[in-house]
Amino acid sequence: MEDAPETRFTAKHDLSGGGRAIAFESLDAPTQPLTRRKTGLEEFDRALGGGIVPGSAILMGGEPGIGKSTLLLQAAAAIARSGNDAVYVSGEEATGQVRLRAGRLGLADAPIRLAAATSVRDILTTLAQGAPPALLVIDSIQTMHSDMIEGAPGTVSQVRASAFELIRYAKENGVALVLVGHVTKDGNIAGPRVLEHMVDVVMSFEGERSHQYRILRALKNRFGAVDEIGVFAMEGHGLAEVSNPSMLFLSGREEPLAGSAVFPALEGTRPVLVEIQALIVRLQSGATPRRAVVGWDSGRLAMLLAVLESRCGLNFSSAEVYLNVAGGYRLADPAADLAVAAALVSALADKPLPLRSTWFGEVSLSGEVRPVAHAGLRMKEAAKLGFTQATGPADTGPATNGLQVFGLKGLPALVDRVMA
Ligand code: TYD
Ligand code: MG
Repeated sequence: MEDAPETRFTAKHDLSGGGRAIAFESLDAPTQPLTRRKTGLEEFDRALGGGIVPGSAILMGGEPGIGKSTLLLQAAAAIARSGNDAVYVSGEEATGQVRLRAGRLGLADAPIRLAAATSVRDILTTLAQGAPPALLVIDSIQTMHSDMIEGAPGTVSQVRASAFELIRYAKENGVALVLVGHVTKDGNIAGPRVLEHMVDVVMSFEGERSHQYRILRALKNRFGAVDEIGVFAMEGHGLAEVSNPSMLFLSGREEPLAGSAVFPALEGTRPVLVEIQALIVRLQSGATPRRAVVGWDSGRLAMLLAVLESRCGLNFSSAEVYLNVAGGYRLADPAADLAVAAALVSALADKPLPLRSTWFGEVSLSGEVRPVAHAGLRMKEAAKLGFTQATGPADTGPATNGLQVFGLKGLPALVDRVMA
């Protein structure tokens, strides 16, 4: 190497000596098959991709008060009742409070090991004295404190250091670890976000506190697909599992209403019919009109409004636009575009859509209605629930189960159909 001119970078960063050799392996080397432990809380297992994996770290995010502690107490109780060791450490509530809640949930007899603690060293020292548990719940990571570094609990460095030590313990001992992380509505999170890369699974527990329904969704899962959701209803005695959610997010209206459209959503393998409501308020003054969205992406609404304006000649510029997804549901499926567009056009024209009609299809910037996955499954469920019409992309299959099917090439055709 004498001849090569030595730059300042290589002089400083010569890494060719001093390290230990690492072993390379082939991709087809034998590995242990993945084991999953069912909690017995079916909706919870489903969202996790079939159960919890020993030695994995799960981050359970959600707004304060949404029901994370309730859900995890129920999951821990289910595991404990099936004869496995479950440890629940609360950093937020005294053991008495947790016990009271367990009583209310009818879980007082579940053999959970319960503690109120915030010192990661205390927790790990205690756990090291016995056999490692099957499940360790830390509620919440924002209350934990590691004495390895300076700083108050809840700061980014503390959250990270505490999580790091707990995750290392879980990996070394085959413990399924659940870290609860509070997330605020605007997504401004000093805590959980910084952990997403450190954990194997990121779950989000969603819903509107004022509504009964809660959805458990995987945002990241190193051990499974992220398309199945778990659906729960918050009731007086805790979270009840909802195994057939297809009707939940319909408002149950009896008369056609302008601005309301039903979208056959698909969550993993399960269809869910969701009502989308739009309200358009014409403004007299030149004030900047509001656009408010609950349950859908506001950027996507802006896009759809722009497409409706430029491709169909509709005018929303002097009107306030409100969009709401019924029941506190959050739509992520791009196939919702057509239903949202139908609700908007119906609201603008003050013309109700047929009562028993459903709408699905992705809308492109050119105003085309694009095909979406599982059109057949969506229509089958709609028909099963008594809907009589489905409107989708141009080549949507023939009528099924008594469902009348309409295909639309683009949004101009939608406008024609709504106005007709
Ligand atoms: P919680 O699990 O404490 O929320 P988190 O841990 O996400 O902050 O749930 C809080 C709410 O759930 C509380 O406001 C009341 C409600 N709740 C019920 O409606 N029924 C119940 O049986 C329980 C335990 C809670
Ligand atoms: Mg809590």
